[in-house]
Amino acid sequence: MKIFLDSANIEDIKKYASWGIVDGVTTNPSLVAKENVDFKTRVQEICNVVDGPVSAEVVSITADEMIAEARNIATWAPNVVVKIPFIEEGLKALKVISAEKIMTNVTLIFSPAQAMLAAKAGATFVSPFAGRLDDIGEDGMEVVAEIVNIFQIYGIKTKVLAASIRSNQHILQAMRVGSDVATIPPKLLDKMIAHPLTDKGLAAFLKDWEGMKANT
Ligand code: E4P
Repeated sequence: MKIFLDSANIEDIKKYASWGIVDGVTTNPSLVAKENVDFKTRVQEICNVVDGPVSAEVVSITADEMIAEARNIATWAPNVVVKIPFIEEGLKALKVISAEKIMTNVTLIFSPAQAMLAAKAGATFVSPFAGRLDDIGEDGMEVVAEIVNIFQIYGIKTKVLAASIRSNQHILQAMRVGSDVATIPPKLLDKMIAHPLTDKGLAAFLKDWEGMKANT
């Protein structure tokens, strides 16, 4: 499974990318707004740090405006992916820009039906939001699993990008169901790394080693 970093924070992106564990990055308008930086400059900075796909979202809501925005964003870097919200106007825009070979990530997907339509209109990635489905009492990862399964049945090439990932359990489920990608917030990536038994085991190894040295 590919791991994308769900962040617009350049320090975090540089840190994890330098460890070789970041296959791509997803941003959204809320994440960029938190950083209080120029959108284009930040996206280009991220694209310079990470070789893989970097999603940058349009903020208009009519097809014509989204198409114009997408064409502009696509010129910012060769690895930029234009994020389009799953609304009717978004679908119209998607058809046009995917025909122009612009990479796309259709966001705010909450059902397999939406994912299927986005794939038909040419999406490179679809982003089902697991955590937000959990928030309203549904099973977000079950929706991710269904989309993965349905895309496999029909041989659909669009990649499934599990988003709105909130826990280690979500990450484990994304791996189990064969999601192509999970986009993970930095804080959760830290939790993926940490295990108390690793720390305990290492402390014991080092203590034994020091003990041996003291006795020789
Ligand atoms: C990424 O592409 C999504 O915008 C992000 O994962 C949404 O996460 P949230 O539901 O925690 O805001």
